[in-house]
Amino acid sequence: MIRKAVLPVAGWGTRFLPATKAMPKEMFPIIDKPVIQFIVEELLEAGIENIIFITGRHKRPIEHHFDINTDLEKHLEEAGKDKVLENIKEISHMINPIYLRQKEQLGLGHAVLTAEPAVGNEPFLVSLGDIILEKGSEVVRGMVETFERFGKSVIALHEVDGREVSKYGIAKVKRIEDGIYIVEDLIEKPSPEEAPSNLAIVGRYVFTPKIFDMLRRTKPGKGGEIQLTDAMRLLLDEEVIYAYKVQTRVYDTGNPVDYLKTVFEFALRREDIRDELVPYLQEVISKQTQLIDRP
Ligand code: UTP
Repeated sequence: MIRKAVLPVAGWGTRFLPATKAMPKEMFPIIDKPVIQFIVEELLEAGIENIIFITGRHKRPIEHHFDINTDLEKHLEEAGKDKVLENIKEISHMINPIYLRQKEQLGLGHAVLTAEPAVGNEPFLVSLGDIILEKGSEVVRGMVETFERFGKSVIALHEVDGREVSKYGIAKVKRIEDGIYIVEDLIEKPSPEEAPSNLAIVGRYVFTPKIFDMLRRTKPGKGGEIQLTDAMRLLLDEEVIYAYKVQTRVYDTGNPVDYLKTVFEFALRREDIRDELVPYLQEVISKQTQLIDRP
């Protein structure tokens, strides 16, 4: 049984500096909902309620977001803003989270290892705090079912453009059935020529607790960080790792361009925004050259 999910949210978010100097990128809004709330909702819809955040010193807003804010509730009540009040209360009671501090940002692998005292000796899920999946709860359920069938770790993969493989961790796989594979190898940011496939690691993982031993054995890699992919490669020598193909849209919010694309896509889906936004965008695009040329 998978009961617990680990959400590593302690990273520096350097690609977004200076915005992330005091503000976690996981709290950036997709219109009016922070990225991290999408991920928590995905887990809850998939039936996973024990959520362990791995946080850092500038990540307090995440704790405040899922906490009760009596002053705000009182204000909204007095102002008669019942609908928004209901929403605020719902978020406050969404989860009973555990927050663990990653004292030094020594990489994603190190963040996962920090969760060990709260996870213990049981399989668990890891969901990255900056990746939103369309129909994410279906993906999580599919991964959990795959774990229940095979009893081994399961990582989510998604197809990326062959020319873009060098941005991702890429898996060499053997197909078992539609959408399910056995992982044979993992290669971090390969060139298009050396990539064994166009299936990229996508930020959702189910791990057996054996990953903790592997993380302890993992030597610091690029940038002195303990890389999760390196620990998964060690795990491959000890256990089979399965892969689950994500067939829905993946929204990366961890860099400015992809974050903006995500915001626009979500905005275009909202009726209350779309009617004003579409003509505005059309106008902006038609004037694009003038804007670019403007000093
Ligand atoms: P990223 O690779 O996006 O790193 O981490 P980052 O530090 O957040 O951002 P950049 O690369 O500097 O712009 C993927 C996830 O792992 C977490 C991040 O918070 C993010 O959700 N992470 C990363 C940790 O929790 N601890 C770390 O030491 C590194």
